[in-house]
Amino acid sequence: MKYNIAVLDGDGIGPEICAAAIEVLDKIGAKYGHVFNFKHYYIGGCAIDKFGEPLPQSTIDGCLASDSVLLGAVGGYKWDDLPGDSRPEKGLLGIRKAMGLYSNIRPAKLWKNLADASPLKPALVKNGVEIIIVRELTGGIYFGKRERGVENGAEFASDEERYTVPEIERIMRIACELAAKRSKRVVSVDKANVLESSRLWRKTVHEYAKKHFPDITVEDVLVDNMAMQIVKNPAQFDVVVTSNIFGDILSDEAAQVTGSIGMLASSSLGDTKRGLYEPIHGSAPDIAGKDICNPIATILAAAMMLRDSFSLTEEYAAIENAVQRALDDGYRTADIYVEGTKKTGCREMAKIIAGNI
Ligand code: IPM
Ligand code: MN
Repeated sequence: MKYNIAVLDGDGIGPEICAAAIEVLDKIGAKYGHVFNFKHYYIGGCAIDKFGEPLPQSTIDGCLASDSVLLGAVGGYKWDDLPGDSRPEKGLLGIRKAMGLYSNIRPAKLWKNLADASPLKPALVKNGVEIIIVRELTGGIYFGKRERGVENGAEFASDEERYTVPEIERIMRIACELAAKRSKRVVSVDKANVLESSRLWRKTVHEYAKKHFPDITVEDVLVDNMAMQIVKNPAQFDVVVTSNIFGDILSDEAAQVTGSIGMLASSSLGDTKRGLYEPIHGSAPDIAGKDICNPIATILAAAMMLRDSFSLTEEYAAIENAVQRALDDGYRTADIYVEGTKKTGCREMAKIIAGNI
């Protein structure tokens, strides 16, 4: 089969991690007889430099014409002082919206032989951790009404958190479908003791599950308590569904608990098979171009693309196994390095993982 993949390298370490994922995909192609065509488009800071905007129309068109999209990361010091609407991050939010990708799945799992990299005590993680965070991606405060102004002589700014019932239902459906194949438990995270939008969220997820997934147990956890529970006992969670901003924050925390944010991939999907796959970490401008970043999250994001957009489950497993073997053989990028292992650069790690396929 032939697959057309749009690659949005972005900024900072983006080009390095995308190159690593492409190397692995090419190896999969050679081994399993697929052809992956890669077309690169600009997004974020590099798009601002070239086109004067973080998400040029050519990028949107290229993504919509592709079978799926691989993204590195956006942002950097250079563009930090730009106003909100012209920042690199706006490019990422824009492409998520333009492609209708409301469902962002972020699986935080503890890899075998990587427990040492977790900052938690061994006893807390020894039986494994796998938290699947289902983050709503095109609503909430990220896309609500924004305002800047002056009132009674005081400068103010506001961002609105707003959710509709259909938005909550469609993300809950994704969480329930996942849970149905796993523990049959969904934890829904909100702040219903304070926020009206959370009270609607809570009511809707329960009504939806009761009607469409009566076998699934839905449990509510307040977001502040959730932040604590993730470090107290991460093994208690399986599928977690939450809003755009809570999912953003909690997925960084869950990633760190499982070792490093450099290991966590994500898929973003809407109502079609065309998705956007990216690591959950940022562009790490401080280490860009040094060949020391961890490409595993992006390599795993490419694997998720094979599984979730192209239904290539065997190829997905081949990449996952190749990553596990690299870890088993002691190769570690700087972020997951511990004494006694072999410190490995980004390019070398990609080569080792591709070689394991
Ligand atoms: C993420 C990132 C983005 C987000 C930023 C870069 C806009 O932090 O994918 O988690 O907040 O969604
Ligand atoms: Mn984030």
